[in-house]
Amino acid sequence: PIPVIIDCDTGVDDALALLFAVRHPGLDLRAVTCVAGNTDVDGVVRNTLTVLEQAGAPDIPVARGAALPLIEPARSARHVHGEDGMGDIGLPAPTRAPADVDAVTLLRREILASPRPVTLIPTAPLTNIALLLRTHPEVTRNIERIVFMGGAVACGNATPVAEFNVWHDPEAAAILLTAGVPITMYGLDVFQRVVVPGADVRRLRASAEPGARLAGELLSHRPATPDVGADSEAGGIGDAGAVCAVVDPAGITTRLLPVEVSLAPGPTRGQTIVDRRPRPGESEIHIGDRERHLVDVALDVDVDRFVKLYLTAVERA
Ligand code: BDR
Ligand code: CA
Repeated sequence: PIPVIIDCDTGVDDALALLFAVRHPGLDLRAVTCVAGNTDVDGVVRNTLTVLEQAGAPDIPVARGAALPLIEPARSARHVHGEDGMGDIGLPAPTRAPADVDAVTLLRREILASPRPVTLIPTAPLTNIALLLRTHPEVTRNIERIVFMGGAVACGNATPVAEFNVWHDPEAAAILLTAGVPITMYGLDVFQRVVVPGADVRRLRASAEPGARLAGELLSHRPATPDVGADSEAGGIGDAGAVCAVVDPAGITTRLLPVEVSLAPGPTRGQTIVDRRPRPGESEIHIGDRERHLVDVALDVDVDRFVKLYLTAVERA
């Protein structure tokens, strides 16, 4: 199995990602680290511990990370993810405490201890990852790739042009993009398209198995489902799509393109500027002192393939 670590802000669709990662036989989920985003970091830790318990994986190490973005003030996404960050579906409290080390320490330890290079999957603001890269840059030698949910080629969600995870901590995203490791951007353009049909959501909700039932309830909250047309019970898998892209990279179509984050104050702040011009010449990769880094940007996704992949893994138990 592929060794992976998820850095998340659980979060309705982060929970869908955790369920998938725990259950897919091709993945070895070595740790989960938590960061403020969809809700405050203590809420994220609680939600993450509970979801792992319900998924039948109560032993995976979980650590608390950054409570605030690097520069931005704290902001809440309660209007999307509910008061508890989990759609207020009445989840029980976890029965264990998080690790007694912080997220950056756990990330360093697990990355360097892994016998095979680790794939990092951030599905949240990139604060923990930026702190890790700045505190322990040596970790990059044992990182295979960073597949992050964030950014957008076309339209934003937090603002007209900025996606929430990047907008929440733009400086952290800029640090990630200059990490010098292979990066895949699973942005809003694909994130919003992977939607589970209502009939499947109903089946999950009726399941006797707690993990599958939780997936059904979370999908019903429809955090990542902007427009489902006639099927009002369909629900997007959101962040879980980034984990699908690690298991099955052929399910997305990517192009290696220069990406930079707008750090300027004002209406573009947090935008990922993706240069899709045909063949930007080598000379354009460096403009003045501003380096633009090449990122594998997901431009298309095989929706049916990812829906099938997701359901097969989650209903496996
Ligand atoms: C991202 O923001 C959060 O609300 C979701 O969990 C996802 O990671 C989408 O913009
Ligand atoms: Ca998230």
